[in-house]
Order: sequence, then C-alpha cells, then structure tokens
Amino acid sequence: MNQTPQHIAIIMDGNGRWAKKHLMPRTVGHVRGAANVRHIVKACNDTGIRYLTLFAFSSENWRRPADEVSALMGLFLQYLENEVAEMKAAGIRLRVIGDRSAFAPLLQSRIDQAELDTAYNTRLNLTIAANYGGQWDVLNAMRAWQLAHPHQTLQDMDAAALAVHLSTPELPDPELLIRTGGESRISNFLLWQTAYTELYFTDVHWPDFDAAALKSSLYWYAQRVRRFGRTDEQVHTTPEWQADETATALLDLAARLKIS
Ligand code: FPP
Repeated sequence: MNQTPQHIAIIMDGNGRWAKKHLMPRTVGHVRGAANVRHIVKACNDTGIRYLTLFAFSSENWRRPADEVSALMGLFLQYLENEVAEMKAAGIRLRVIGDRSAFAPLLQSRIDQAELDTAYNTRLNLTIAANYGGQWDVLNAMRAWQLAHPHQTLQDMDAAALAVHLSTPELPDPELLIRTGGESRISNFLLWQTAYTELYFTDVHWPDFDAAALKSSLYWYAQRVRRFGRTDEQVHTTPEWQADETATALLDLAARLKIS
C-alpha cells in the first residue's frame, strides 16, 4: 500500500497540558497552538494535501472559563486578520463550519469576508470547525432534508440524500483523523463523515505537533489496509469491488453536486 490521504481532519488537543508542562498559563498554550495551525496548514499545502479540517472550538467548549473562551475567540479573529492575505497568495480556500451565529458580529463578518476572499482558490481546502458538533451537524442535516422534501417522510431518506445537507457537502470524507494530546476519542467531531476514517492518536501535544510528526502520521496511514466492511482476502484478491467503490464515489459526487 502506498496511499496519501486527500482529506485529513485534526483534533488539536493538548494546548493546556503543553502550557502546564512549561509552567505557563493555559492561554499561552492556545497562542502556541494557533501558531502551530499556521505551520501545519503550510506543511499540508506543501505536501499536496487537498483538504484539511481543524477542530478549533467545539459546541461544548463554551463550558470553559469565560477568559479562556474569550482568548480562543480572540485568537480565531487574529488568525483570520493575519493569515487571509497569505492564504490568498498560497491558493488556500478557507471555509468555516459550525454555528457561527453565536459569535460576535465582528468575528462573523471576518469569517464571511475570509470565505469570500479565498473562494476561488484551488489548492488546499482548509476548513475550520468552530462552535461545531457532529450531533448538531447531523440533526441540522435532517431538518434541512425535511425542509427540502416537505412531501416525503424520513422513510424516503437515504445516506447520500442526508449527506448533501451536512455542513461538508463540498468535502470528501476524511481518510485520516489525527488527534493529538494523548486522548483516544472523537469528541463529537465529524461523526457522520468519519464512519470509515483511519484514526491516528498521538501523545504529542498540539503545539509540538510539527511537520515531522505530520509525516509520521502520513507514513502510518500509508500502511493501513482500508476494507470498507469487506474481508482482508476480498481486498487483496477481488478487483471488482474497487470498481463498485468508484461507481459509488461517482454517484455520491453527483449527489453532492446535485446532478442526476
Ligand atoms: C484543545 O486543547 C484545544 C482547543 C479546545 C482549542 C484549539 C485551538 C487552537 C489550536 C488555537 C486557535 C485556533 C485557530 C484556528 C486559530 P485543550 O485546551 O483541551 O488542552 P488540554 O486537554 O491539554 O487542556
């Protein structure tokens, strides 16, 4: 096997513990974490990764102390203000997923502007999940499906029809999910989209997760055998299922692009 993922999703965990280890306040860990976002985005763009999705703020993170929430919001705003010009030059398209209505009006308008400013870029597709939750995404998609199909019932809905109403219709599902910081859970990230994703957990705290650590995760991924429910023997001996897989992917793409 020699495969590179086209879509990597990352749960950037361990900022607080990184700060504690260096005898600094938690917010300094987040500042270093935000700086690392810049490095990893560049490393992915340089490596030719097509899609990178980062979990910056979960719908549950509002439960953190108010000063930490406000530091995270400030870092997000600063990131948008400092990075968008460079993203434009580097061909990076930015999208933000999650319920942005809870953010301050200034942050919302910077998000809208950043998405507009980078909308025609075609290299790396960077998606930042902010005030995002996987359960929220699926529930939203079900409500949107019902609105779009007022004369049908849930019995008429299938997986492909629902998926176009998720917050990620333009993105392929991630092949690789990386979680830094030593925990082994999904924490309500892309629940639907990670059904067949390879999960890579590392003890490295997010501020220390550098280009070499990214390369190790890609090396690990390259050795995975992806079975999609089939047996190991089928994967190695039956080429027809790969044609089925391609046909399914094309149908899925057609559904996402709303063509029939
Ligand atoms: C988890 O570490 C990290 C977060 C909740 C926030 C991630 C935010 C950033 C990396 C910076 C801002 C983002 C952008 C896009 C500019 P934790 O605080 O839970 O760490 P701990 O588990 O060690 O306490």
